[in-house]
Amino acid sequence: MHAHIITLPGDGIGPEVVAEGVRVLQTIAEKFNHQFEFEEHRIGGCTIDAYGTPLRDETLDACRRADAVLLGAVGGPKWDCGEVRPEQGLLRLRKELNLFANLRPVKPHPALTHASPLRAEKLVGVDVLVVRELTGGLYFGKPQGRFEENGRVRAVDTLEYTAEEIRRIVDLACRLAQTRRQHVTSVDKANVLASSKLWREIATETARAYPNITLDHLLVDTCAMRLISAPASFDVIVTENMFGDILTDEAAVLVGSLGMLPSASLGAGTLGVYEPIHGSAPDIAGKGIANPIGTILSAAMLLRHSLDLPREADAIERAVERALTDGCRTADIARPDERVLNTRTMTDAILARLTTEH
Ligand code: IPM
Ligand code: MG
Repeated sequence: MHAHIITLPGDGIGPEVVAEGVRVLQTIAEKFNHQFEFEEHRIGGCTIDAYGTPLRDETLDACRRADAVLLGAVGGPKWDCGEVRPEQGLLRLRKELNLFANLRPVKPHPALTHASPLRAEKLVGVDVLVVRELTGGLYFGKPQGRFEENGRVRAVDTLEYTAEEIRRIVDLACRLAQTRRQHVTSVDKANVLASSKLWREIATETARAYPNITLDHLLVDTCAMRLISAPASFDVIVTENMFGDILTDEAAVLVGSLGMLPSASLGAGTLGVYEPIHGSAPDIAGKGIANPIGTILSAAMLLRHSLDLPREADAIERAVERALTDGCRTADIARPDERVLNTRTMTDAILARLTTEH
């Protein structure tokens, strides 16, 4: 197949990990006889520096025309105090492409249990898919901003959902759960928030169309606790935008490192934005030591969800698993006595296992 892929390396370690994701996709193209064409654009702080805006209309148009987008990370201390923030570019990209669903799979690798602070027995059987609503909720409700009246300053954020926005994300969660263990946990704060009461109602109604699915409701604070105390009790979690943001950083603890986790942001069509859930990690940027696995697994999700190439996606995921089983480690997941690979050599190790696969 022929596919046009936009890369948005962004800031910090973004360019380092995206380069490796591209290398993996190129290897897949050779091995499986596809043609992937890459077009690089800017996003985030580096774009603010060059153009005064974190996302240009040209870039947005290029993404709309593409088959898929592979993104690194945005942000950094340099832009923390500015009026325009790098993160606005990412939020605008998600919103304008209508990517309402953010899929974040969390499945600890058995060879990495040492990297998690949780006891190994807690991690047995953990396989969670968080479905985070991505274009509504607290990140996008209006009014939002800082207001001044009679010399008094206030700042406002609004958590708003329409029934339709809730329905489409819960519906997707149910469909995804059908291919897994048929269990959806809808996470809200229905004991306090009006938007959550509607969320719970619509979730219940939506799940009725899926008689084989078990739907539970959990308050977000309880969910935060259960993710650590009983992580194996979850299959699919579906939740509001900011709840999902917070819970997925927490869930990363199960895997041992934020550097391991991929994500897919999807809309109604096949176009998607794929990015590791870690940020720009300014403390290690430029050193070439970042864990590329979050991005490489995001590339696998790109193949599966946007290009409908599940065999190729499986091949990448198996190569990553084999590399980890064989003891390949970047610094974030290594024991003190283990040999440490860098961003490039870890990718080499994965590529070696990809090309020797049958
Ligand atoms: C994420 C990030 C972003 C978010 C930031 C960078 C705006 O934390 O993708 O989880 O909050 O959505
Ligand atoms: Mg986050």
